[in-house]
Amino acid sequence: MMPGAPVADAVFASLVPRIEALRSAGHTPGLATVLIGGDGPSARYVAMKMRKAEELGCHSPHVHLTQDTTTAAAIAAVRALNEDPSVDAMLVQYPAPAHVDFDAVLMAVDPDKDVDGMHPTNVGRLALGVPGPVSCTPAGIEAILAHYEVPVAGRDVVIVGRGVTIGRPLSILLSQKRPTANAAVTVVHTGVPNWAEYTRRADVLVAAAGVPGMIQPEHIRPGGVVVGAGVRYEGRTLLPDVDESCEDVAGWITPRVGGVGPTTIAMLFSNLVAAAEQRAGLI
Ligand SMILES: NC(=O)c1ccc[n+]([C@@H]2O[C@H](COP(=O)([O-])OP(=O)(O)OC[C@H]3O[C@@H](n4cnc5c(N)ncnc54)[C@H](OP(=O)(O)O)[C@@H]3O)[C@@H](O)[C@H]2O)c1
Repeated sequence: MMPGAPVADAVFASLVPRIEALRSAGHTPGLATVLIGGDGPSARYVAMKMRKAEELGCHSPHVHLTQDTTTAAAIAAVRALNEDPSVDAMLVQYPAPAHVDFDAVLMAVDPDKDVDGMHPTNVGRLALGVPGPVSCTPAGIEAILAHYEVPVAGRDVVIVGRGVTIGRPLSILLSQKRPTANAAVTVVHTGVPNWAEYTRRADVLVAAAGVPGMIQPEHIRPGGVVVGAGVRYEGRTLLPDVDESCEDVAGWITPRVGGVGPTTIAMLFSNLVAAAEQRAGLI
């Protein structure tokens, strides 16, 4: 098993001295959170991130916009945070009410304060190999593979899903020329009806489709590595892409609960600390 918690703990441990150095230099890292509307799970996610910020000695101003907030008002709130010197990075929690143009709100975030690495400037930086905040779940998946010493360089990595949150950025990340990447990456999606032919030969299979139970034992290479990132929520029940029975066939596999979730949060704080160091002139 490849649980995410030990990986996240290692990331947080590496951030502690960096946060101390920032605070000693008079710069407390600030993570702003923006919640639009009253979506229950989103409110819980935001509260959890604020608690973690406090635990790490960061400050976390929160902006809660009401359900009837307009796109213009949400953009104005984001611009105010862009100008706020105590804010190093911000998170605009998804989803927003349907009448809000969420992409337009994200576009308004200063790319250097984009803790999720989702702004087009940062996706462009990723594609160009220029330093910048990297999308948190893909960065966490690379960290998991590195932590468990799963060889990736030169290996066959197959990603199911080309979504902008996981599949697409992960495909760029793992194809970069770095020791913990450098893979032969294949991305499959609904346009590839014989996708299982690709997944069956994968040294490392990453499921990022959001189709519960889509990956069954016959879709993986016996002894291969499986990372389950795609999930669908039904109420509070989490339904992963990777069926439980795959645990008997895979060599290494992330647990259905506590896999990529903890590392996603750790990478978010990693992006925050890097943004703070940049703004404080420490890097
Ligand atoms: N665990 C975490 O921390 C975390 C964080 C973020 C997201 N997620 C989850 O990760 C998943 C992916 O999110 P995303 O935003 O990157 O992607 P997305 O926009 O939800 O897109 C899903 C992708 O999967 C492909 N797909 C769907 N059904 C398929 C099928 N039957 N066969 C082959 N391909 C199929 C789609 O293909 P087409 O492009 O052809 O439609 C699409 O590329 C979601 O379930 C999301 O909830 C998890």
